[in-house]
Amino acid sequence: ASGASFYGRRQTAILSDPPRHSIVAAFDVVAEDRAELTGLYRELTDRARFLTRGGAPAAVGITGPPADSGVLGPEVPPGDLSVLLGAGSSLFDDRYGLAPRKPAKLKPMTMFPDDALDPAWCHGDLSLTLSAEEPDTVLHALRDLARATRGGMQLRWKIDGFTSLPRPSGAPRNLLGFKDGTANPEPPELDSLVWTDDGGSYQVVRLIRMLAEFWDRVSLSEQENMIGRRRDNGAPLDGDQEHDEPRYGQDPVGTVIPLTSHIRRANPRTPQTDGERILRRAVNYDRGVDANGNLDLGLVFTCYQRDLERQFETVQKRLAGEPLTDYVSPFGGGYFYLLPGVTGPADHYGRALL
Ligand code: HEM
Repeated sequence: ASGASFYGRRQTAILSDPPRHSIVAAFDVVAEDRAELTGLYRELTDRARFLTRGGAPAAVGITGPPADSGVLGPEVPPGDLSVLLGAGSSLFDDRYGLAPRKPAKLKPMTMFPDDALDPAWCHGDLSLTLSAEEPDTVLHALRDLARATRGGMQLRWKIDGFTSLPRPSGAPRNLLGFKDGTANPEPPELDSLVWTDDGGSYQVVRLIRMLAEFWDRVSLSEQENMIGRRRDNGAPLDGDQEHDEPRYGQDPVGTVIPLTSHIRRANPRTPQTDGERILRRAVNYDRGVDANGNLDLGLVFTCYQRDLERQFETVQKRLAGEPLTDYVSPFGGGYFYLLPGVTGPADHYGRALL
């Protein structure tokens, strides 16, 4: 949901390019029973509606703590905040008797061969993706949502993301220096690739560290062959402009765009693989320095699809062993079902599930 139109059958904020700042967070639900879980969803709905629309926080008596942290000033600016809420498969274990309502394709995130997963950074009962132009807007929203739902859910992991300005134009760049987000499905195919029949979508979050020091020692041509695109303008190696279509048919053995390149493995662009396309929404992260004095930065890779196995997992399996795997290391993330949108004042997130 985002400021202008909180209500809708789908959480359509996934269709917009991520603004400059975001937080992706996963929570464990600690609600006692189904009634408390419903209360949690109602509270999340009310707070998300307020935070996206903005306005004056509720007045409280002089002895109570203020209703709002005040971080954004006395009134919450109506703005550009968008909120996305997802549910993990663990929410549908028998704790709340929700097993029969589990979205058909939802399951725990698979561990892939090149992964180095840290359990503290994986999975969760709920996912929350907050995005806005300013970092204080998303942090304010997270704090508000966590505070209003204390007793119902607890933070499990959280990562801050940012995007670059278009430099000089087109998709923003990831921290390997390449434009990221160029080739994404578009309407009309987009709809059937992304949304389930009830207006939800499967969300994959993959926290992928980049080994920046190591990458920076690689020649430009080798970097470009690993990706399959030029670093300066994002054009495929057989083209001139960012949005030129790669012509794999004219290069069957991969003389110009190697068969092992990331883009060619990820999307071979054949009629047989067209249904495997995903909507990608990646942002950069920076977590500081690791114990060895190396930069701890990378990509919060997020994608949306109608079917986890047919789409994300098929693409991920094709990427196994690609040359880029030497320079990146997935350490966390999860699979979530992005819930259908809130359709009106009487509706709340998760209503169809409860
Ligand atoms: C395209 C980088 C992880 C799937 C690209 C592009 C870059 C890139 C630079 C080309 C520009 C674009 O079209 O956006 C990376 C990096 C990753 C990463 C640095 C890890 C740190 C992944 C993962 C997947 C994935 C985990 C899915 C399993 C794709 C797809 C495309 C793409 C489907 C578009 C291919 C096309 O349609 O031509 N990626 N990527 N990427 N990537 Fe990744």
